Amino acid sequence: MDKIRIVGGQSLNGTIPISGAKNAALPLMIASLLTEEKLVLENVPRLADVALLQRILGNHGVDITVAGKRNGDDPHAGQTMEIDARVIVDTTAPYDLVSRMRASFWVVGPLLARMGEARVSLPGGCAIGTRPVDFHLDALRALGADIDIDAGYVVARAPNGLIGARIDFPKVSVGATHTALMAAALAKGESVIENAAREPEIVDLADCLIKMGARIEGAGTSTIRIEGVPRLRGARHSVLPDRIETGTYAMAVAMTGGDVTLAGARADLLESTIEVLRAAGAQIDVNNEGIRVRRNGAGLFPVDVSTAPHPGFPTDLQAQLMALMTRAQGRSRITETIFENRFMHVQELARLGAKIHLDGDTAIVEGSDRLKGAPVMATDLRASVSLVIAGLAAEGETMVQRVYHLDRGFERLEEKLSRCGAQIERISG
Ligand code: EPZ
Repeated sequence: MDKIRIVGGQSLNGTIPISGAKNAALPLMIASLLTEEKLVLENVPRLADVALLQRILGNHGVDITVAGKRNGDDPHAGQTMEIDARVIVDTTAPYDLVSRMRASFWVVGPLLARMGEARVSLPGGCAIGTRPVDFHLDALRALGADIDIDAGYVVARAPNGLIGARIDFPKVSVGATHTALMAAALAKGESVIENAAREPEIVDLADCLIKMGARIEGAGTSTIRIEGVPRLRGARHSVLPDRIETGTYAMAVAMTGGDVTLAGARADLLESTIEVLRAAGAQIDVNNEGIRVRRNGAGLFPVDVSTAPHPGFPTDLQAQLMALMTRAQGRSRITETIFENRFMHVQELARLGAKIHLDGDTAIVEGSDRLKGAPVMATDLRASVSLVIAGLAAEGETMVQRVYHLDRGFERLEEKLSRCGAQIERISG
C-alpha cells in the first residue's frame, strides 16, 4: 500500500490549482441517469471516488467517455466526461459497489424517477459514525414511492411515476436534498423541499438540472420549489471548484507560513472558513486568479468554532482546522455538530505531539510550538489530510499510511504541495 512521506518545516510558496469539487461531481454524474440524452461534465476531478462512480454507473448501462488530451490544454484542467445513460439495463446497485462509497446510494432517486423502480444496497457503516438514509427514503415516500427493505437492499417502486409533494426535512441533509431534488425533477406537479441543504454543491446540481430542462427555484436557500417535467434533456456543465480542497490548502499555508495563490478558488463558497482563518492570523486576499493566503512570522491565534450546515463552518474542514489549532498560541475549542464520531484524527494528531482533550462533541486543543513527525494513519479522507497538514509543520519525518483515503478526494496532493516547496513524496508499495 502506498504511503506519503513528509519532511516538515518548509513554508509553502507558489500557486496551487484548485480542482473541481468531488462532492459536486458525484451528484452531477448521478444526475445523468435522469436523461436519455448526453450529459457533458467539464472540470471533473481525477479522483478514486469519481472512478468508482464510473464503474457503478457502468453497471446500470451508462456509457462514459473521457476526452483525451488536446494541444494547448492546461495540464491542471479537470477532465471532460461525456455521460450517456440512453439505456438503463439494470436498476440494481449492488452491495459490493455501494458499500465502498456512500454517495453511490444517491442513484436511488434518479433510477426511481426515470425507471419507476430501483433496488439499491443500504450503504452500511462508515468511519465517521452512523449515517442513516431515512431522510432519503421519507422524501421518496412523500413523492409516492413504495419502499421496502429486503435483504439489505432498499427496494423502491413507483410504477406510475412519482407525484410532486411537500418534503420537510427534520434536519439538514446534503444527500437527502440531492435525492429529493433529482426525484422531484421528473415527478408530476409541484414539489417543495423545506429545510433543504444550502451547500454550493446543491446549487451546482440544481444549475445543471435547470440546463437539462428542470424547473427549479430557490436552490441555495432553505426552500426549494420544483415543478416536475416529463423528461429532461442533455446539457453541458462545468463542476464548481472544490471549496474543501481550497480550505485545506489555505489551512496548510496558515500552518506552515508562506504565500500561496489558490488558483481558480471561489471565495464566495467558503466565507465562514475565510473568516475563521483571518481570526487565526492568516492574511487572505481575493484576486482575479483566486484566493491568496499568507502568513509570515506572526503567531497563530486560537479560535472557537462549531461545525454547521452551509453557510456555517463545514464539517469537512474540521479535522484540518484542528491540525492548525495544534500550533496556535493558546486553547481553542472545536465542536462537531454534524457527525457524532468525527474525531478519529485526534489520536493520530496526538502521535505528532498535539495536546487535544475530547469532551463529548467538543475537542479542546492546547496549542504548542512544536509538533514532531511520526508514523500516522487515518480512517477517513479529511482526517488523513489533516495529518498531512500537521506533518508539513512538524519537525522531521511523518509517514502517512493508508493513502487511498487521500486519493478518494485530493487530486495530485503531493504534486500540488511539492511545487510550493513542501518536502512530500509518495512511496509506492
Ligand atoms: C455530504 O454527506 C458529504 N458527502 C460529506 O462529505 C459531508 O461531510 C456531509 O455532506 C455534510 O456536509 C458528499 O457530498 C458526497 P448529510 P451526506 O446527509 O450527504 C444525518 C467528505 O469527506 N442524516 O448532510 O451523507 C447524518 O447522519 C464527505 O467529502 C440522517 O440522520 O451528509 C448526519 O448527521 C464526508 N438521515 C447529518 O444528517 C439521513 O437520511 C448530515 O448528513 C441522512 C442524513
